[in-house]
Amino acid sequence: MTAPSTRYDLTGRTALVTGAGGLLGRQHTAALVDVGARVIVTDIGPSQCEAAITAVRAIAPGADLVPVTIDVTSQESVQAAAFDLTSRGISIDILVNNAAIDPKVTSTPGVMHSSRFEAFPVPQWQMEIAVGLTGAMLCSQVFGGAMAKRGRGVILNIASDLGVIAPDQRIYRQPNIARSEEQPVKPVTYSVIKHGLIGLTKYLATYWADRGVRVNAISPGGVFNNQDPAFVEKLTRLIPMGRMAHVDEYRAAIQFLCSDASSYMTGQNMVIDGGRSVW
Ligand SMILES: NC(=O)c1ccc[n+]([C@@H]2O[C@H](COP(=O)([O-])OP(=O)(O)OC[C@H]3O[C@@H](n4cnc5c(N)ncnc54)[C@H](O)[C@@H]3O)[C@@H](O)[C@H]2O)c1
Repeated sequence: MTAPSTRYDLTGRTALVTGAGGLLGRQHTAALVDVGARVIVTDIGPSQCEAAITAVRAIAPGADLVPVTIDVTSQESVQAAAFDLTSRGISIDILVNNAAIDPKVTSTPGVMHSSRFEAFPVPQWQMEIAVGLTGAMLCSQVFGGAMAKRGRGVILNIASDLGVIAPDQRIYRQPNIARSEEQPVKPVTYSVIKHGLIGLTKYLATYWADRGVRVNAISPGGVFNNQDPAFVEKLTRLIPMGRMAHVDEYRAAIQFLCSDASSYMTGQNMVIDGGRSVW
């Protein structure tokens, strides 16, 4: 029998992380490096890739990191990256679909807030879905398709606690805005994308179950990142553990789900949210 710890070992395997330049993408990269993987660090531009590499190398100086620019909304961009990697003799064993848009919402007094469902702009709907959902589909099609051909691979979709529960819009309310239609809300796109990613996970898990490709999702709760204290207080009241996540608290789950430690698990969504979705 293999000792449990060696089942986490990703030595000799190559992972590709989308949106790796962001807050959690860097953490996923560091987690994978920690257990021996080479990581293809991808993001929409070279500066985001380089920023991630600098951050990860600061804690893991010997990390084997390869920057590749990928706009996940563009089939040409994803295919060009795959072609580039193949021509360098690199094949992808693990795909982490992490890229997403974090929409910035600002209030304009006297105007219905554009994040509200009744006013939600179609171009914003299309753009956010293109990144968060179509991007995961395209990367799975190209990199997952190659895994299925080789008969081995892992896909991990980064969903959210809001992929299993609805947002509680009360926590986004601004006390200084009287009219409810001017109040910002968590946009509909976030729920649709994250629920959709869990659907994509189940679809691909069964579609490729006989091809050696495992597909799972992780649904993290909100990470503390110096948000407005009033917002943090309202949010943490919804969390049985009474706090937001530390930025590095998903690393062990990433290692588990991307390695042979989870070899009999596919089509599942691991919810790590301090208990929020249980209440
Ligand atoms: N931070 C949290 O609290 C939290 C909680 C639950 C789930 N999540 C999910 O985790 C993932 C990462 O979140 P984060 O907080 O690190 O977000 P982030 O905004 O810090 O990072 C997202 C990254 O995606 C990249 N990106 C945007 N458009 C892209 C495109 N077209 N092609 C390629 N890359 C693109 C951005 O450049 C950025 O580096 C997201 O899927 C998010 O929804 C985050």
